[in-house]
Order: sequence, then structure tokens, then C-alpha cells
Amino acid sequence: MVNGHETVVAVDGLEKDYGSVKALGGVSLSVARGEIFGLLGQNGAGKTTLVKILLGMVLPTGGSAHLLGRPVGSVAARRLVGYLPEDHRLPEYHTAPSLLDVYGGLQGLSRSDRRQRTGELLATLGLAGRERLRIRGYSKGMKQRLGLAQALLHRPGVLFLDEPTDGVDPVGRRQIRELLLAERDRGVTIFINSHLLGEVEQLCDRVAIMRKGKMVLAGTVPELVGSKPSWLVGFARPPADRRFPGFRLDPAERPGFFRLSAGDLPGGDPEELLDRFLAASAAAGLALRHLERERGSLEEIYLEIAHSRGPTA
Ligand SMILES: Nc1ncnc2c1ncn2[C@@H]1O[C@H](COP(=O)(O)OP(=O)(O)OP(=O)(O)O)[C@@H](O)[C@H]1O
Ligand SMILES: [Mg+2]
Repeated sequence: MVNGHETVVAVDGLEKDYGSVKALGGVSLSVARGEIFGLLGQNGAGKTTLVKILLGMVLPTGGSAHLLGRPVGSVAARRLVGYLPEDHRLPEYHTAPSLLDVYGGLQGLSRSDRRQRTGELLATLGLAGRERLRIRGYSKGMKQRLGLAQALLHRPGVLFLDEPTDGVDPVGRRQIRELLLAERDRGVTIFINSHLLGEVEQLCDRVAIMRKGKMVLAGTVPELVGSKPSWLVGFARPPADRRFPGFRLDPAERPGFFRLSAGDLPGGDPEELLDRFLAASAAAGLALRHLERERGSLEEIYLEIAHSRGPTA
């Protein structure tokens, strides 16, 4: 169980050596039903290796991995999963409907179910209207969308997505994000490898960061990111004197906005500073239009880890 929910992915002390390369050096993690789990890490950190072991495509050198209590690689475990590989290749002579028909057949879906699912998925993924086009004529983002349709076709309970929005435009990314959130709300467990930190931050319930085959950090996004002792402030009309009314306001990166920071103030209690600031700006007749506690970003944490020495593989 993870936080009272059924454990779907359970990995314990997983190791994988490729000759002298230790791709995984003792990784443990668990993912609960209905969770979107994001796995981050630099090129070569071991993310794809971990997913391939969970899919039974690569044998571990040590440790254990289970999907819904079944050893990975077993037929029962494989039936449960949908997979979007990184750099996937779809047979070019197919159209989307003919490809999904073949894959659906292999997965045991009835003909009417195949047809219905294909219609649904092509519409949701923004591929409707291109049913007669062969995959050879697809753009990169279209291939990616169809790869996702293929992964979702048989309504798997667990989805493994390696760089799901690679090459997809912003509209498509949003469609994919909404689709994945809807799947999650139906109880599907989703495991994502990605380099798009903003996207991971928006989408994932929990995140783990790998480095050189080891897990270095895991938690919910708010746990990892946390609040900072500063606020982003916007006024109806900016104050003429930025020291006014006795607080330091620095211009923020966002044009027209200021940063109120508790960091360099004596006493330093951020909440108290904010109360004083609100009272003072009201007394000075400054109309606030925006006030937001600043948060760290996943990118900041990620870069800190990437630049630290961390565990050596
Ligand atoms: N089949 C293989 N044979 C030899 N070495 C491999 C093999 N697959 C992976 N490796 C090595 O294992 C390590 C982890 O690779 P992996 O593909 O898991 O990284 P990754 O985190 O997915 O990286 P990326 O972000 O670039 O996709 C790398 O050093 C890689 O060279
Ligand atoms: Mg990879």
C-alpha cells in the first residue's frame, strides 16, 4: 500500500549492469493506483532501463520488481500495461485506423470495440479527419499522438510513457495532458519519463529524480518545491518610489511586477512582513491587483541535483 492506496508498481533494490556500466544501482520505489508518477533524470540516468525492466523487456541483474503483485515479465503483468516507447517506430504503410485495428486484434479486442476505441482515441488526440493518410505522411507530433493511441487502445490499468509529448505542439500537449488526467481519474496508474519539467510539475502527483542509476529525491511536487519567503506583487498603478512605503520592492522577471522579499529584513517572519506590507500599501492608497507567494520550481531543484556530485555509480 502507498498512502492507503493499492500498490501498482513495487520496485525494491533493483540493479542492472550492462557490462561494466551500472545502469541501475539499487533503485526502490512504489506507485499507487490512480497516481501519475514522473521519473526525471539526465540522459543516461537509467529511466528507460527501469521502465524496460517493469515491462519485462530487460532482465534485472538484482532486486525485485512487481506490477500489481505479479512479477514483471509474467503474461498476467504484461496484459495490464500500455507502453509508449521513446523513439518508437510505427509501420509506415498503415493508416491510423488500420494500425489500431491490427494492434487491437492482437490485444483481443472485438471488431466493434476496436472501431469504437479507434474513433474515440483519434478524436481525443486530434487525429480525426486524417484517417486515410498513411503513417509515412505523418509529422513527428502526429506519430507521437498515434503512439499514445496505441498505448491506450486496450484500456490498460497501467501506462508507461517514455517522453509522451516529445515533438508535440502546445495544443497537442494540452490535449495529451487532459487525456492523461482523465485516465488517472478513471483509476489508471501512469508512469512518465520526461525531461519537460514544467509539464511534469503540472501533471504528476509524485516525482522522483534519478542520477547515475540511483534515486536521489522523491516526493509530491509541493513537498519537493515548497514556498519561498517572497511574494510577487502587482499594483493598479506602480508606486513612484519603490522604497515606498518602507519596503524593498525589486522589479520581478514578469514585466510590471515586483518582488517583496522577507529574506533581507530584520525579524524575517514572512507572514508578519506581508501583514505590515498590506496595511502600509492600503494606507498609502496603493491598490493591489496581484499578490502571490513565490514557490521554487522543479527546474531549480533538478538543476541543483544535476550540478551536485550526488551518488557515484
Ligand atoms: N542495451 C544496452 N547496452 C549497453 N548499455 C546500455 C543499454 N541500455 C542502456 N545502457 C546504458 O545504461 C545507462 C542508462 O541508460 P537509459 O537508457 O536507461 O537512460 P535514460 O535515463 O533513459 O536516458 P535518456 O534521458 O537519454 O533517455 C546508460 O549509461 C546507457 O548507456
Ligand atoms: Mg530514456
